[in-house]
Amino acid sequence: MAGIPDEIIEEIRSRSNIVDVIGGFVQLRKAGNNAFKGLCPFHQEKTPSFFVDGARQSYHCFGCGKGGDVFRFFMDKDNLTFVDAIKMLANRAGVVIPENTYGNSAESRKKADERERVYQIHAELCSLFQKILRDNPQGPVAQYLKSRGLPQEIIERFKIGAAPMGWTTGVDYLRGLGFRDDEMVTAGVALRGHRDPSRIFDLFHDRLAFTIENEIARPVGFSARSLEAKPADGRKYVNSPETPIFKKSRLLYALSQARTSIGKMNQAILCEGQMDAIAFHRAGFSCAVAPLGSAFTPEQAQILKRYTNHIVLAFDADQAGQKAFLHAAEILLPLSMELKVMHIPGGKDPDELYKNGGAEAVAQAVNASRSWLEVLVEVLHTRYDFTTPVGRGEAAEIVAGYLEKVPDQVELEVYVSDSAKLLQVSENAIYSKLSTRHAQLRRREEFQQHQAGPEIAPKQHHYNAATLTLLEVAISSPDAARKIAELLPGDELSGDDPVAQAINFAVGAALNGDEDGGVAPIRELLIEHPVPEISRILVEHTTYKDAIKAAEDAVSEFRRNRCISERKTLMEKLALTQDPAERTAILQAIQNLSRRSS
Ligand code: CTP
Ligand code: MN
Repeated sequence: MAGIPDEIIEEIRSRSNIVDVIGGFVQLRKAGNNAFKGLCPFHQEKTPSFFVDGARQSYHCFGCGKGGDVFRFFMDKDNLTFVDAIKMLANRAGVVIPENTYGNSAESRKKADERERVYQIHAELCSLFQKILRDNPQGPVAQYLKSRGLPQEIIERFKIGAAPMGWTTGVDYLRGLGFRDDEMVTAGVALRGHRDPSRIFDLFHDRLAFTIENEIARPVGFSARSLEAKPADGRKYVNSPETPIFKKSRLLYALSQARTSIGKMNQAILCEGQMDAIAFHRAGFSCAVAPLGSAFTPEQAQILKRYTNHIVLAFDADQAGQKAFLHAAEILLPLSMELKVMHIPGGKDPDELYKNGGAEAVAQAVNASRSWLEVLVEVLHTRYDFTTPVGRGEAAEIVAGYLEKVPDQVELEVYVSDSAKLLQVSENAIYSKLSTRHAQLRRREEFQQHQAGPEIAPKQHHYNAATLTLLEVAISSPDAARKIAELLPGDELSGDDPVAQAINFAVGAALNGDEDGGVAPIRELLIEHPVPEISRILVEHTTYKDAIKAAEDAVSEFRRNRCISERKTLMEKLALTQDPAERTAILQAIQNLSRRSS
């Protein structure tokens, strides 16, 4: 699965006891033999309805219905993909995943190994930078951090370090660990000499080093700040170049520290740089991230969208900040993401705001954030003369240009109504400004919707009680499962919905002599199909005094139900056809059904 060998996934699973892992996030109380309960991390609640089952290595919340195995837990909690959940737990469990995501050719394996070496170089260099800072409390970087008031806990949480004084300290250190010069150049941490390309030098030296991590907290690059206000070489920051693992447009500073909060708070704060992001985290807004010194990209927006639809922009109020705001709006609106803008009093940056006003001032500013539309109109006020019809018309034109990007009709209507109020024009005036292209698009969509008839509601699982009981009984004991196999042979149990699959897993396991009731493949099923009914049945551990009788009852109930629903389908068909031959055939089928169920 997922390009990662199954035995590695199993190794990770077996080293990640769900009770320990979830216990790290949720306070669990004993609720039975190897069963625990706590407050659900996925919804607000005062009495615990979140159960973790050690025996079946699964969880289920009776409140919100979330459930599954240890991987599913992280997919739910941090909005991770399955692969990222595996990587994350591998890291935690100390299992090394062979990087073969490129396929299996020698060439691709070489590439994967190279990448892994680049990761390792960053991990080692990051440790070195951290160690240098720790060992030199009187050194320039430590003093600088002190002058800016960064506490130890933050320095550690963000893996802040000190790039060494010399020109080859880092390079020498990495050589000592067995890394080759060309690997360091590929990794973007060393540069070849101008005059003598056979010699290499540290890219980062004598600076404060911010570690840039990827989403799952592996160091992938650095951003190193000069300790001087006006550095001699004019470079305030020296940043990692693009490398196999450092793609600036797809990374966000502080995301690994922020992602859990972003999900929990259901908002992300987007600010301008490292220092600002850190200031937010210190002020209790650990949902803050920053692009890496360049403009916000659509890829970064997509990443954030996995966690939340609500973005608060915390850019400077200057000209550049205004431009960045308009740019962010263009990226976020097409994704149906809500954008708010935070105003920082006194034209300061968030870092200064925190320094001067503390967490309270930051919270006040965040809470006072305003909708992008309000801010846009405010910006337009400085550029157009709203007292003249032409000026206001031009402003409306610009607003309509942004509204055009909103794909959702309901959102659009709300925005149109808001814009009309803000611009003091009628809604119709705004609609008329939406370009013809947009109108055409809209008409086409309406037409297609009309063609398709009323919108079909998303497919919901409504499992009938009999099918669920059958699963419950099948899991309860191998004897029951074998009896079910005997009574319900072959295709009677077929079906590709997850519950039917789960029943088949339980029955198959029993027929194979597995005593665990098919729990392992059922858990795996939940990774892709987190059906609440299934995770509930897993943690409930229902047992039956007479397993055979329970199986017999469940099967007859299942059959009876099936007959009822089949009859219903046939009756509907009958009502729809006038063709005599067809009617006879349907009536015949109905009679057969009655005979079978009696
Ligand atoms: N940046 C950069 N190169 C520069 C200047 C800035 O890469 N020469 C990036 C950095 O990621 C920085 C962000 O842009 O964090 C914001 O820049 P700026 O506001 O100038 O720096 P601050 O992070 O606010 O640093 P400080 O508060 O120390 O001035
Ligand atoms: Mn700053």
